[in-house]
Amino acid sequence: MMARIGRRGVLELGLALTVGGCGGGSTGTPAPAPAPAPAPSPPTPPVTGLDAIAASRNMRFGSTVGGTRNPAVSSFGSTDYRALLVAQCGLIVPENELKWQTLSPTPDVLDFSAADDMLAFATENGLAMRGHNIIWHQNRWLPQWLASHDFGADKEAGTRALISDHVTAVIGHYGSSIRSWDVINEAVDPATGNLYSTVLSDNLGSAEAVIDLAFTTARAAAPPGTQLVYNDYPGWEHGNDAHRAGVLKLLTGMKARGVPIDAFGVQSHLGIGSIDPATGTGPYDQSGWRSFLDAVVALGLDLLVTELDVRDDALPSDIAKRDQGVANYTRAYLDLMFGYPQLRDVLVWGMVDSFSWLQREEQRTDGLPARPNPYDAGFKAKPMRQSIADAFTATAARAKEAR
Ligand code: XIL
Repeated sequence: MMARIGRRGVLELGLALTVGGCGGGSTGTPAPAPAPAPAPSPPTPPVTGLDAIAASRNMRFGSTVGGTRNPAVSSFGSTDYRALLVAQCGLIVPENELKWQTLSPTPDVLDFSAADDMLAFATENGLAMRGHNIIWHQNRWLPQWLASHDFGADKEAGTRALISDHVTAVIGHYGSSIRSWDVINEAVDPATGNLYSTVLSDNLGSAEAVIDLAFTTARAAAPPGTQLVYNDYPGWEHGNDAHRAGVLKLLTGMKARGVPIDAFGVQSHLGIGSIDPATGTGPYDQSGWRSFLDAVVALGLDLLVTELDVRDDALPSDIAKRDQGVANYTRAYLDLMFGYPQLRDVLVWGMVDSFSWLQREEQRTDGLPARPNPYDAGFKAKPMRQSIADAFTATAARAKEAR
């Protein structure tokens, strides 16, 4: 217990552990008189986690967490990672545990046990939990059994029932314990801006029919005030025009059709694929990105940063330079994003580099491990963590809002 508190204090301060010597006794010399009792140590200065800084602006900071507590191979299985979440975060989001594929390995199974344990952890520690995601609208991310599923004689009716049953079951299972849901994830093909076709959209005649049904069902199933989010990854980097246009078209259409959507989740998997000589870090399309966000908020939608992390492919191998480049890029990004008062929640896609999905699913050309998160593999705060803290500190407080 003591060790855990000590470790957590260290994590909160973002410092490395130092081990003090205890002074071993020597033989043959009289023992020195016992030292006077030490004066009580001064109270520890208040430690400031990222969520506490965010809270001072009526904002929140959180992270994803993945896997199970046992076996301890995942971020959720790491006691240090869990302590870091408690110290730094106000909310968490399961990395894979609420995805349809995970909940339903076969059509007759809906297994919430992994996500339920995350909610139990969150509740025990005063953290909120977001829901990610109900329908990831791409065939490769839907349950594989859907491809050969028997939807019944009336395929359209069967598909509608399947979608609304799933949305209702997932939201109904959590009730008021989850106040924000990614109802639809990544429905837009970044290359074309068109909506992906899936087995579901083929049966209903259009992707819009799937998306609209998911949101209207979610609204009916969720307690009042639950935030319903469309989540996707058009980015601020150059080359995102088609993706942004496609997402904007989708959101505009949803609003025009009266579909109940509250917010756009900006995933924010940032990428430094080249270097801007003026800044030494990645270039970005500031005006195109701002126009896109301006148009999104003009629809009356709120914004969330749902999955912030940074790919640093174009930065040099040197760790100090990489970390500083990532930090500078993050700070510029958050400063721009925080210009939108509609943005209150920032979640990173992992607190600690060694647990990042990018470690498993992508590779730098020099083969070095990815460094996309605010803490390194030794749980030491990196410059990116400071950038996040500084960006929250620099932004204006949002109006207070009961959630
Ligand atoms: C990723 C997880 O981190 C991986 O573990 C998994 O193999 C694939 O999905 N956009 C999203 C997230 O919306 O769900 C993705 O998470 C990362 C990209």
